[in-house]
Amino acid sequence: MSDYKIALVTGASAGFGLEIAKVLASNGFKVIAAARRLDKLEALKDLYPSLILPLELDVTDNAAVEKALDSLPFEFKDIDVLINNAGLALGVDRAQNCNLNEWNVMVDTNIKGLLNVTYKVLPSMIKRNFGYVINLGSTAGAWPYTGSNVYGATKAFVEQFSRNLRCDTQGTAVKVTVIKPGLCSDTEFSNVRLHGDLDKVKAVYQDTKAITPKDIADTVLYLVNTPAHVNVNEMELMPVCQTYGGLSVTRKLDFNKR
Ligand SMILES: NC(=O)c1ccc[n+]([C@@H]2O[C@H](COP(=O)([O-])OP(=O)(O)OC[C@H]3O[C@@H](n4cnc5c(N)ncnc54)[C@H](OP(=O)(O)O)[C@@H]3O)[C@@H](O)[C@H]2O)c1
Repeated sequence: MSDYKIALVTGASAGFGLEIAKVLASNGFKVIAAARRLDKLEALKDLYPSLILPLELDVTDNAAVEKALDSLPFEFKDIDVLINNAGLALGVDRAQNCNLNEWNVMVDTNIKGLLNVTYKVLPSMIKRNFGYVINLGSTAGAWPYTGSNVYGATKAFVEQFSRNLRCDTQGTAVKVTVIKPGLCSDTEFSNVRLHGDLDKVKAVYQDTKAITPKDIADTVLYLVNTPAHVNVNEMELMPVCQTYGGLSVTRKLDFNKR
């Protein structure tokens, strides 16, 4: 049984966040399940009525984050575990063909949203000398690929911010981990990224056995059960069918073409 008792999971209405909330609640955690779609969170609460607190929240709205976290009921107030999971990718185009608005949404959600929530929750963990911040990065933060441009860069931010948090929390018992998954199926991620084009979504996972939300939730469960003196800094997970790409070379590149 984990020493931690209360968790805030952002992006708990789908994918990893939903499964993490379920697995934590199944293991006795009180879970503040945050996302924009309240109906999905209410359905989650129906599964664990006394353990789930649905929290309608857009992490990009800092005033809303402050207000929501200031108004938590007493029994959910002292957040022990923060899972910064809310995030998204939009588009797979090369940078020169991208939509600036989509770039901004990714920055606002994956970077600023994560900061808004962390900024609000971390001080209480430091004050109580007890807590755990788990951030969802991605292999895209370390391994570049065509079309990853801003998404991968936001996840590189998450990775480095997590390492820097380790430095800033030095001398306290607060832990920080960044989980960096590779190809994962059974979430809404590709549906959101590919704007609901189901044929393209299907092609992403065709003939693969990808990581599942359960794999990620089990990883979180492992992390929150590590001994108090152990900090797992980073976890990079790929399905066995995925590995690093080679460097790419264009042959016969025409420099004279204008
Ligand atoms: N699936 C993958 O292949 C993969 C791989 C590596 C890393 N990741 C990362 O893992 C995390 C979860 O991904 P997933 O695959 O579970 O995606 P998903 O199924 O699309 O779920 C994303 C969650 O984030 C929430 N969300 C999005 N924008 C939000 C906002 N502004 N405020 C609050 N919540 C917001 C969504 O809820 P609402 O729409 O209800 O707000 C949803 O619950 C993301 O950070 C993603 O970048 C995913």
